[in-house]
Amino acid sequence: MSREIVCSGIRPTGNLHLGNYFGALRNFVKMQEAHDCFFFIADYHSLTTHPTPDNLYNNARQILVQYLAAGLDPDKATIYLQSDLPETVELYLFFNMNAYLGELERVTSFKDKVRQQPNNVNAGLLTYPTLMAADILIHKATKVPVGKDQEQHLEMTRTFANRFNNMYKHEVFPLPQAFNFGSDLVKIPGLDGSGKMGKSEGEMNAIFLNDDPAAIKKKIMKAKTDLGPTEMNQEKPVEIANLFTLLSVVSTPDTVAYFDDLYNRCQIRYGDLKKQLVEDMVKFTQPFRERIAELSSDESYLRRVMDQGKEKAHESARRTIEEVRHVIGYRN
Ligand code: TYM
Repeated sequence: MSREIVCSGIRPTGNLHLGNYFGALRNFVKMQEAHDCFFFIADYHSLTTHPTPDNLYNNARQILVQYLAAGLDPDKATIYLQSDLPETVELYLFFNMNAYLGELERVTSFKDKVRQQPNNVNAGLLTYPTLMAADILIHKATKVPVGKDQEQHLEMTRTFANRFNNMYKHEVFPLPQAFNFGSDLVKIPGLDGSGKMGKSEGEMNAIFLNDDPAAIKKKIMKAKTDLGPTEMNQEKPVEIANLFTLLSVVSTPDTVAYFDDLYNRCQIRYGDLKKQLVEDMVKFTQPFRERIAELSSDESYLRRVMDQGKEKAHESARRTIEEVRHVIGYRN
């Protein structure tokens, strides 16, 4: 792949879980080596769920620590806070003028939120995809490392970019693509036997990068299973397939093949599978826990990283917003 402009972010709604890591953060770390990368903490997007000021601040700080603990390097990638870049908000406003109620209401994540929080269906939720488009297009990014659940938002981003270019008859924006390093977009399942790993599905559903070994053990041992296979080579029910998916991201292929074979021969003992998963999960998360603990108290380093990121992000955003204003017709 030639050198691309890459941009992505994660909402600071709590600690990062394995879904965030394998869907997004792992790609951030790889991509910073060869591309011009902008990775931000989406602290405007998190306002849709009305955090308290303390929560907003502490969660954003925690995401920064976890970005760095996972290996993001402020000298390679631009790491910044979304709210440090007001140009994004201006571009969001411009996109909102050409975003239509019907298309915004049809977005799956919006429909999910309407179901989940019927008493808080705010305009920020409705226009979530236009703010995302602004985040990405403010840097004219072409590649956006995200998990499978963000695919539709990227489609909307292309719609808004294209619409703007056509309306003003200028090729201002590229049409960015969702991206996962080396393969299809991923969806990491949760531990409750359904759906994806996610913060809003409850604490027991997700393994967080800073979970201690006892918490990991408790969650995995409680994960839902069935009574076991009764026929050779039978298809795995979803909760069992989920455990195998989790095993495949933290264990060796040999280990996965070993349990797969036992399953196919109806000789699997889920307790053994879970013990192995606990062991490999604890090993996998160990370096994160150590780095998180080290970085958490280094206030002056964290401050420096944010200041440096803000400056670099601002440079890129200012160029785009000047061009956009000119094309729209704001001329001094
Ligand atoms: P958020 O904060 O919900 O999730 C952050 C990233 O983690 C990925 N992810 C998963 N990937 C695989 N399996 C899972 N179980 C899983 N759970 C979460 C998400 O796909 C995402 O990549 N809207 C975004 C934040 C955002 C953004 C942007 C992203 C705001 N502006 C611009 C890219 C570009 C979000 O809510 O992600």
